[in-house]
Amino acid sequence: MRDIHIQAIRVHQYGGPGELKLEEIPPPVAGPGQVLINITATGVNPVDWKMREGMLARPLPFIPGVEASGVVIALGEGVTHLKVGQAVYGSVDGSYTACAAADASRIFPKPVHLSFEQAAAAGGAKIAWSALFEEGRLTKGQRVLIHAGAGGVGHLAVQLAYHAGAYVIATAGEENIDFVASLGADEVIDYKAAPFETQTGQADLILDTVGGDTLERSYQLVKSGGTLVSIAGKPDEAKAAAAGIRAVWSGAKSVRAMQEVARLLDRGLITPAVRKVFAPLSAAAAAQEYSRLGGPGRGKVVLLIE
Ligand SMILES: NC(=O)c1ccc[n+]([C@@H]2O[C@H](COP(=O)([O-])OP(=O)(O)OC[C@H]3O[C@@H](n4cnc5c(N)ncnc54)[C@H](OP(=O)(O)O)[C@@H]3O)[C@@H](O)[C@H]2O)c1
Repeated sequence: MRDIHIQAIRVHQYGGPGELKLEEIPPPVAGPGQVLINITATGVNPVDWKMREGMLARPLPFIPGVEASGVVIALGEGVTHLKVGQAVYGSVDGSYTACAAADASRIFPKPVHLSFEQAAAAGGAKIAWSALFEEGRLTKGQRVLIHAGAGGVGHLAVQLAYHAGAYVIATAGEENIDFVASLGADEVIDYKAAPFETQTGQADLILDTVGGDTLERSYQLVKSGGTLVSIAGKPDEAKAAAAGIRAVWSGAKSVRAMQEVARLLDRGLITPAVRKVFAPLSAAAAAQEYSRLGGPGRGKVVLLIE
């Protein structure tokens, strides 16, 4: 009998986009607690090209991608909350492939009002939720500044903070100011026009999704006793202590964050935006370059697998 293989992108050595190799591999199987998904679309995140370049260590070879949407084709032992044939989305480790096995506790039914592309772009919401509410302890009425309000994480952070009743300030390029305001931001700062710290007052919480100089200049804009959370760079705790603030790096993606986000997506209270769609799987290199070089648009780059 002829072996069945599926298409996947694999990285065998760290390097440029040419290291994304389209290959035929044996299909995975769903282990205990896992679900097997026919992947329709994968989100393309900065972490994908950072791993490809070796900036973030990952054992070789690997299939890139951390999130996807698709259709369930098999259930592993013990999985009862999903069904074969169900449209789903969530965290999928190695999602640049036609078919992947994923931890079922991190997979959720796709809301019918979201396309597969939108559902594959939703992953930023869980990191934003963790950063704002678990690490940042944001409460109603507090002032929060979100850097990169049009980004894959930032546009969902703005929506989450708005629905929590915070006073939302966000940074964006001029072409994205109307978009970020439409998500619920009370103030949108054009970060290219003048330094953001000259354009607004202090905040109880700053969520930094940019890092580098943006993170460095954010300490001074946090109220005494407030919090600086970065998902893009490690804050300097000593500098924060000297300023009388708390500063933390957030990489948490708790199952609770995913469940809270799933509830908000189901109710249509937050909506992922798709920056640009690439297809098919062989366009992975072009999609990663678009993400890496910051191509125009709002929200997340998505790669359609089929
Ligand atoms: N810690 C974690 O677990 C975790 C999870 C997810 C992501 N991350 C990291 O978080 C970062 C953001 O991810 P992402 O997916 O949101 O990235 P992204 O979508 O690629 O970010 C693009 C956005 O950044 C904005 N931007 C660029 N420079 C800026 C600046 N100086 N000030 C304000 N905005 C700026 C652009 O705004 P305009 O187009 O409006 O100019 C664009 O909308 C990445 O470094 C990623 O690796 C970390």
